[in-house]
Amino acid sequence: MNLALIGYGKMGRLIEQAALARGHRVAFTTDVEGNEKGQALTAENLKNVDVTIDFTAPEVVVQNIDRVTALGVNMVVGTTGWMSQLPKVRALVQERAVGFVYSSNFSIGVNLFFRLIEAAAAQFRNYPEYDPWIYEIHHRAKVDAPSGTALRLKQILEKAYGGREFLPASNRAGAHPGTHTVGFDSESDTLTFTHTARSRLGFAAGALHAAEWVCGRQGFYEFSEIFPS
Ligand SMILES: NC(=O)c1ccc[n+]([C@@H]2O[C@H](COP(=O)([O-])OP(=O)(O)OC[C@H]3O[C@@H](n4cnc5c(N)ncnc54)[C@H](OP(=O)(O)O)[C@@H]3O)[C@@H](O)[C@H]2O)c1
Repeated sequence: MNLALIGYGKMGRLIEQAALARGHRVAFTTDVEGNEKGQALTAENLKNVDVTIDFTAPEVVVQNIDRVTALGVNMVVGTTGWMSQLPKVRALVQERAVGFVYSSNFSIGVNLFFRLIEAAAAQFRNYPEYDPWIYEIHHRAKVDAPSGTALRLKQILEKAYGGREFLPASNRAGAHPGTHTVGFDSESDTLTFTHTARSRLGFAAGALHAAEWVCGRQGFYEFSEIFPS
């Protein structure tokens, strides 16, 4: 598979290593210089590219999506902080008949965590004495808060509890690895479920899995929809 990487930072570089190790070719990379307005995403630069992977920043990701999908190239997007523009992006992807997979968290462990929280919430909602909550903490460089993963956990709880609202609490400090906790608390006891990221390699592996899956396919998918059950 021929890949293009938009965003050649911590995640972009890890994805490149993982891709080469799996026998893929990285045909094009760009960071912000020369692509401030998406101008590096041309037919020439993306010639023969099967899938483009974006790990950039919330304020530029939608312009990148617009440019890449206009060229008819499939995309995997790991950049977080753009969910308010999801309807617009879905419409672009459908109109241009490309393949697109996004996730706020490509880690396999986190995707299994989502399933466990769905199962836990399906039990606890039958016992009103238990209240759920969501807490997340990340290193000081993470820009968006709450994290995309915390927003997904919020969505899972709100679906299970039919309309109740759950606001995640967020902290940014030091070098904390991404940590998410969902708890259920009652007067008698507390249950907590915590996922702590240990390395970014899991995100890179998941994003690459999504790129392999979407290569040659059309449609708009969240990673959990293509994640093996
Ligand atoms: N979904 C997941 O599983 C997952 C996992 C980890 C991180 N993330 C998200 O992925 C994003 C990137 O994370 P990171 O840790 O790799 O950050 P990072 O190390 O800061 O890398 C971001 C990269 O994007 C580049 N960039 C900024 N604007 C650009 C533009 N217009 N065109 C091309 N490149 C541009 C930056 O270039 P310069 O260096 O030149 O500024 C940098 O190379 C964040 O939104 C983060 O929350 C998601």
